[in-house]
Amino acid sequence: MLKSTSVKDALARTAPHDLLLVQGWVRTRRDAKTFSFLEVNDGSCLKSLQVIADAALPNYAEIQHLNTGAAIAVRGALVASQGQGQKWELKAQAVELVGPADATYPLQKKGHTPEFLREIAHLRPRSNLFGCVFRVRSRLAFAIHQFFQERGFVYVHTPIVTGSDCEGAGELFRVTTLNLKDPPRRDDGEIDYAKDFFARPTYLTVSGQLEAEAFACSLSRVYTFGPTFRAENSNTSRHASEFWMIEPEVAFCDLAGNMELAETFVKHLIRDVRTHCAEDLELFAKFVDQGLLPRLDFVLERPFQRVSYTEAVELLTKSGHKFEYPVEYGTNLQSEHERFLTEEHFKCPVTVFNYPKEIKPFYMRLNDDGKTVAAMDVLVPGIGEIVGGSQREERLDVLEAGMRRHQLDPKDYGWYLDLRRYGTVPHSGFGLGFERMLMFVTGVANIRDVVPFARTPGNAAF
Ligand code: 4AD
Ligand code: MG
Repeated sequence: MLKSTSVKDALARTAPHDLLLVQGWVRTRRDAKTFSFLEVNDGSCLKSLQVIADAALPNYAEIQHLNTGAAIAVRGALVASQGQGQKWELKAQAVELVGPADATYPLQKKGHTPEFLREIAHLRPRSNLFGCVFRVRSRLAFAIHQFFQERGFVYVHTPIVTGSDCEGAGELFRVTTLNLKDPPRRDDGEIDYAKDFFARPTYLTVSGQLEAEAFACSLSRVYTFGPTFRAENSNTSRHASEFWMIEPEVAFCDLAGNMELAETFVKHLIRDVRTHCAEDLELFAKFVDQGLLPRLDFVLERPFQRVSYTEAVELLTKSGHKFEYPVEYGTNLQSEHERFLTEEHFKCPVTVFNYPKEIKPFYMRLNDDGKTVAAMDVLVPGIGEIVGGSQREERLDVLEAGMRRHQLDPKDYGWYLDLRRYGTVPHSGFGLGFERMLMFVTGVANIRDVVPFARTPGNAAF
């Protein structure tokens, strides 16, 4: 049996070939007098392969009715193209109609809006733009593993069902098998989660960090890369309810080392995609964001700016810029502030560090000033925060005090505190939002358009 050749491999051939089998979906059909042109795409690359189907083919009548969206298998000779725009074309010896599509096929040649394409999320990967997005997504995932594996990091699969709220923000999806109509109750009337599946309240994880810390304090350098879930009701272009996060965690590493790692990592990913997804990036540069390639190159060439939270607040208040939300020491930076810093003031990625302890989670290491914690956020133009991380509090008593300050009961974190009881070490880590990174390298402005099937408030279709 003849093995099939991808469109990508067919187009990359350096010499003509007598017989190839190419399988894919018809993008367009154009009929001339004695033959038809078919553009066939199989998603292996942006380009389609031009097929020439001669009127002498036995099923030519059928071919003349092939619609956009139909699946076909073509056997033929790869020959130098007579026409402009492509090096090779496939001169068909047989065209098999594998799966027809009728005129109701929603993806037509004309451009469609991203909003419309979101409603047909099951078909949009067949469009040029989304083919590019999801090829880059795949490559980016590979580059992430490669980066860490080459540096001796161990990949840890942290649990998806968890009992703790790592970020303490209360944005948890509950996991339960209790009957919602008639849950078991305790004497005090509260729902009795001791009778639930895991005999305790459980949730979808918001971060694998706490578990990653246990592994970093054993295997030294680890990373997680998996789905995380947040039930925050933010309908923005940068928030998804289900997203992927990469979380490295490193023993014997302080905040400076952490900032260094984050910068090297982000640059590595940009460089990798720049090299290995050049054709896809060209499409983004042409149709999505004209400033994309210069911006990526600019980021690669320069060190990220580093600025403390206190300095950042000063810069923002002195800027004279009118913000919707006022800037004040002790409040979280809003995305408009973050974007001002990275887009207007520094005009490059910025790492903001040492935030007030009140606005950061319990696990961050308290600085000697007693006011700030060793936190860091990396902000990039067009998006704002892309990385959030910190040095972790390794001192048992300080960590317990931090928990109480955050209204957490140290008794609920026994295993986590053990890491500080037995061979505690300074350690640090961060989380990179995978989709935000993908938005950054593609210029795609809405997170819904870099997730295969996006989950956002009010939306879990497909
Ligand atoms: O800043 P965050 O909340 O940090 C943590 O979860 C830490 N436990 C990470 C760590 O230190 N190991 O989230 C990290 C990153 C953010 O910077 C952002 O890029 C992304 O995750 N992120 C989201 N991405 C898409 N949709 C959301 N709702 C996101 N929330 C956070
Ligand atoms: Mg954050």
